[in-house]
Amino acid sequence: MARVFSGIQPSGELHIGNYLGAVRNWVALQDTHECLICIVDYHAITQAYEPELLAQRTFDMAVSLLASGIDPARCILFVQSHVPEHTELSWVFTTVTPIGELERMTQFKDKSQRQESVPAGLLNYPVLQAADVLLYRAEIVPVGEDQLQHLELMREIARKWNARYREGFFPEPQAMLSQARRIAGLDGDAKMSKSLGNTIGLLEAPDRIWELLRPAKTDPARVTKKDPGDPEKCNLYSLHQYFSPPATVRDVAAKCRSAGWGCLECKRVLADNMAAEFAPIRERAAALKAQPERVHEILADGARRAHAMARETMDAVRAAMGFLPIQGARVRP
Ligand code: TRP
Repeated sequence: MARVFSGIQPSGELHIGNYLGAVRNWVALQDTHECLICIVDYHAITQAYEPELLAQRTFDMAVSLLASGIDPARCILFVQSHVPEHTELSWVFTTVTPIGELERMTQFKDKSQRQESVPAGLLNYPVLQAADVLLYRAEIVPVGEDQLQHLELMREIARKWNARYREGFFPEPQAMLSQARRIAGLDGDAKMSKSLGNTIGLLEAPDRIWELLRPAKTDPARVTKKDPGDPEKCNLYSLHQYFSPPATVRDVAAKCRSAGWGCLECKRVLADNMAAEFAPIRERAAALKAQPERVHEILADGARRAHAMARETMDAVRAAMGFLPIQGARVRP
């Protein structure tokens, strides 16, 4: 089974953007691949964050992932900072990564523009990401399109390290793009994000889903109920395609084109279907939150398994690079 690695920042609860764009794929890949799913808390500190919220957000992300179907019996779910080799390998990789390549990354350019003083960690973000994947010598990385540039750099880092120290040791990981086309935020244009408040959390109650959906942007041509619309121009129609059964999707499109109903009625159906899909996820999340020690156990077990793999890679990396090993009676910690 080919090995898959993916990561997600500890933003707390998952929202429908993460769910459709990434997590649903990871859940499916567990049947066919050896999967490692990592909550990347060391990446999260490259931008302003609240230290007092980090642990809770990491825990909540684990709950959301488990509730969505990430299954610790079939994949390794763990927290990045629990496996110190991520930062260790990252340091090694900074020594084969050209600064110019890092400065070229569009995410770096975007994020650094908004800051007066740019931390080196923001520049090195993709190096840590390369270490995440290569530490497990994973070959497949399911990500969104926005990560393709980071993946390209990851392959370059693998090639450079291999060329200098040990040919063929690190694979060149391939991106696996999700089928889901990008869903815009409920406000119409921006990317869906929790901080922008333009999305729906996976664990929201049905009445809250409705509250968030009701004011959402639809095809601007539909000013009143009597104006026909074009479903292809309606962001909510794409949500119907994910959450409503095919017959409903056809019906929704027809009624939109013929002005057979209003957008509110259309949204009502979507809200109900979303609530139905999320109901079992909410239930599982509530059960997990009632037994936090179970979640901590799962993460500890994930860290233990990931750590064993990571240690092997780092031993090989240090040996290839010529470091003096610890020798003598005392065993390496
Ligand atoms: N940068 C990724 C994102 O923002 C998160 C991430 C960190 C990641 N490490 C990774 C994704 C390793 C895939 C593989 O979505």
